[in-house]
Amino acid sequence: MTDDLQALKTETDAALAAATDLRAWDAIRVAVLGRNGKLTALLRDLGKTPPEERRERGAALNRLKEALTGAIDARKAALDDAALEARLASERIDPTLPPRPRETGLVHPIARTMEEIAAIFGAMGCTVSDGPDVESDWLNFGALNIPAHHPARADHDTFYLPARSPAAEREGQTKLAPPVLRTHTSPVQIRTMLTQPPPIRTIVIGRTYRADHDATHSPMFHQCEGLVIDRDITLGHLKGCLTDFLRAFFGIADLPVRFRSSYFPFTEPSMEVDIGWDRKSGELGRGSDWLEILGSGMVHPRVLANCGIDPREWQGFAFGMGVERVTMLKHGMADLRPFYESDIRWLRHYGFNPLAPTMLHEGV
Ligand code: PHE
Repeated sequence: MTDDLQALKTETDAALAAATDLRAWDAIRVAVLGRNGKLTALLRDLGKTPPEERRERGAALNRLKEALTGAIDARKAALDDAALEARLASERIDPTLPPRPRETGLVHPIARTMEEIAAIFGAMGCTVSDGPDVESDWLNFGALNIPAHHPARADHDTFYLPARSPAAEREGQTKLAPPVLRTHTSPVQIRTMLTQPPPIRTIVIGRTYRADHDATHSPMFHQCEGLVIDRDITLGHLKGCLTDFLRAFFGIADLPVRFRSSYFPFTEPSMEVDIGWDRKSGELGRGSDWLEILGSGMVHPRVLANCGIDPREWQGFAFGMGVERVTMLKHGMADLRPFYESDIRWLRHYGFNPLAPTMLHEGV
């Protein structure tokens, strides 16, 4: 190779080695191989070479062209590799990093309690049933053995809807009593028994409505209802089931539970269920005071008959409790109103991590 060709090779190699990005690399490629490039000019000048030297010079130029093209391509490949490596390094993900808890949101205590209730009764073999918030007078009261002028209606502070409302039309209630916002989840007992043959084991968790508003009552609140129907269900099953539930829910293995006779039109006998606590300190499971938690009883034969279930063959128990009430007791909350005020500071204090879902084996 003659000196001028060797010089071009040396100069190009040095320039390529110094090129650290694709722009610099491309400038070299154009300066050497482009239309006005140095190698292109040498090839063009081949014609001016004396005929006796032309053959040898042509062969040398071809070898140089091959060497330069090879070097330029190799540099491009090296720069591409380096760029890919840099990208991979900058985009590396560490899957072992912990999640950022503040960005996940928080589960509302009411939702958490509902999950816990479903987990406990689910483990006892119950399904979860539901029904609409707007009910007919018959399903909310009549079928539950609360006829039109029964005094128990006065306890319910019912919200009545206009008789000629779309909801009333849908329920075919326009000529009868106006529909209501359900005052308890008990109408879902009726809906379940009307559509499902016994045996039945189910719970209902949902919204209920009563015209009442203070530190412990809200016009909209939540109840959990339970219904168990089978051939040989006794008061013993009711007591065992609710005692187990309350001990699991409050996480107190020896929580005292008391059954006190009471009255509901749709159960007979009826019982109020109390848990032991210390009124002064507010501590559950200690002291000598009692706190009313829920209502329960054996399903009244007339209610079974209203649903086409023969009370001589089937019997069972039912219960109902306030979701807000047990949530407040479990977490030591004095006022129910913040549940519905959407104050994010309150939720940050009382909310639950959604990445730590309810699991029975850890205790709820
Ligand atoms: N429905 C009753 C209430 O709202 C509770 C209850 C349900 C009582 C089922 C007995 C059986 O107060």
